[in-house]
Amino acid sequence: MNLIGGDCLEVMPRLAAGSVDLVVTSPPYNLGIGYNTFKDTAPRDEFLAWCREWAAELRRVMADDASFFLNIGAAPANPLLPHQLILSLTEGTEPLFVLQNTFHWIKSITVATRAGESISAGHFKPINSKRFVNDCHEYVFHLTKGGDIPLDRRGAGVPYQDKSNIARWGHTGGEDQRCRGNTWFIPYDTIKSRAKDRPHPATFPMGLVEQCIRLHGKGAATRMLDPFLGIGTSALAAHRQGIEAFTGIELDADYLQFAHERLNGGRDFLFPPANSP
Ligand SMILES: C[S@@+](CC[C@H](N)C(=O)[O-])C[C@H]1O[C@@H](n2cnc3c(N)ncnc32)[C@H](O)[C@@H]1O
Repeated sequence: MNLIGGDCLEVMPRLAAGSVDLVVTSPPYNLGIGYNTFKDTAPRDEFLAWCREWAAELRRVMADDASFFLNIGAAPANPLLPHQLILSLTEGTEPLFVLQNTFHWIKSITVATRAGESISAGHFKPINSKRFVNDCHEYVFHLTKGGDIPLDRRGAGVPYQDKSNIARWGHTGGEDQRCRGNTWFIPYDTIKSRAKDRPHPATFPMGLVEQCIRLHGKGAATRMLDPFLGIGTSALAAHRQGIEAFTGIELDADYLQFAHERLNGGRDFLFPPANSP
């Protein structure tokens, strides 16, 4: 595990070309989020140009068969950012990546059972609005160099609900595991914190990173990078999946310190967003 303090635009050029198999990251969202050090308030054009800069560097360090999972959300009054970002990375005169898959990270959902009962699960940050509904999802864009990288769909899959399908369909190979599809219900990790304040305003859950690792399908041998490490969620997920060749980069010294402490087992600061129902 190699956790590095600094600006990823300065650190990544020190990494060898083609030395990374898997990137799972969540950059700043350009929504005015109150990070310790980074100012999340740039004009949209400037922000997108900056994203192209670090994404080009990511492309350079990625192996040809690498996968890049990019988590980003929007805000109800600012809904276009994920789409603007993905267009700027995949279109234009010099596209950096091909969008191979789009996943929806579902944070909260209500489903009706066959018995007509309503079951709600997960957490989200409720908004007080007459025109917008609560925002219960974020995107995870799967970007690759050529759009043709095989994935371990079954390794990241789920058991069949109707077991008779296992024998009925030849493609199952007799295994009770099917592709999960592109909607991932992953609740925020549960809080176990002695701290009064949240240590970071915008983390993703470990389960989201683990799902990307499983889908990539190269197991403990994976060489992984998160250029926006925050408090180290991706490093913990990599560790849990047996990955040792992990590099994380974080601008803010306090967040990096948290990441180190979490990895060393000293802290377990995982939390749902404030005011979750
Ligand atoms: C959305 S957060 C990532 C949170 C992380 N996924 C977690 O679960 O802890 C984005 C992070 O990028 C960091 N950051 C912003 N600009 C950076 C840069 N140029 N280089 C490295 N880190 C940067 C911010 O300090 C912030 O912690």
